[in-house]
Amino acid sequence: MKNILFLINTILLSLKRNRKLRNIDGPIKVNLGCGLTVTKGWINIDGSLNSLVSRLPEAFIRLIYRYTGANQSFDVGEYVNIVSNNDFIHHDLRDGLPFGSNTLSHVYSSHFIEHLNRDEATNLLGDAYDALVSGGKIRISVPDLEYAISLYPDNKKDMMEKYFFINDKANTFSNHKYMYDFDSMSTMLSRIGFRDIVRGDFAEGDFPNVDLLDNRCKDSLFVEAIK
Ligand SMILES: C[S@@+](CC[C@H](N)C(=O)[O-])C[C@H]1O[C@@H](n2cnc3c(N)ncnc32)[C@H](O)[C@@H]1O
Repeated sequence: MKNILFLINTILLSLKRNRKLRNIDGPIKVNLGCGLTVTKGWINIDGSLNSLVSRLPEAFIRLIYRYTGANQSFDVGEYVNIVSNNDFIHHDLRDGLPFGSNTLSHVYSSHFIEHLNRDEATNLLGDAYDALVSGGKIRISVPDLEYAISLYPDNKKDMMEKYFFINDKANTFSNHKYMYDFDSMSTMLSRIGFRDIVRGDFAEGDFPNVDLLDNRCKDSLFVEAIK
């Protein structure tokens, strides 16, 4: 059943590949690769089953719950509440952003960019740059490559391997494809055109809702930049 659902998900994502969302009153705030870490006032984009069912009747959301992995963190009532009371867009972000130029004020992303290979990440962040208004802000959190490598001499190889070698055949969105430290992330952002690139701290700063969106303190690299 799980494999069939993921196959249907992949087919539906490919049908939506080239769409652009119009009629959006902007500029808006978007959360890329949101998972279930979402909050009001944001448009949350993800290619998962969660976002696929978000606009369906509650019965479908309840049905899909056990196949999403959400049962490890939420009970079914919490899951229905998160999925049906927030704005989700079901979209494969390897196909770029479904927004036009100068439509976004803020772009947030937590523990998602490492699920893209480097070219896909560069293209997506290039799209984000184009879609942001001048002065718009991006905040990216990824597992810190420096932290992951520090586990190796620390005799924590099993933990370290999980950063590099997640291999979930049913849900390929789970796999990590690249890792970043501050230098490589800031070089990528600066080549795209971003300026004022700085390292951030967990849940701190004036980025909107940072206290609600940041959710992984210990192993994360936080980077902010401006268009
Ligand atoms: C590790 S989770 C992070 C979720 C959340 N941002 C957080 O910090 O807890 C990675 C998320 O990226 C999504 N994802 C991975 N590849 C994707 C893609 N190509 N397009 C859209 N979403 C993708 C997955 O579905 C998953 O929800």
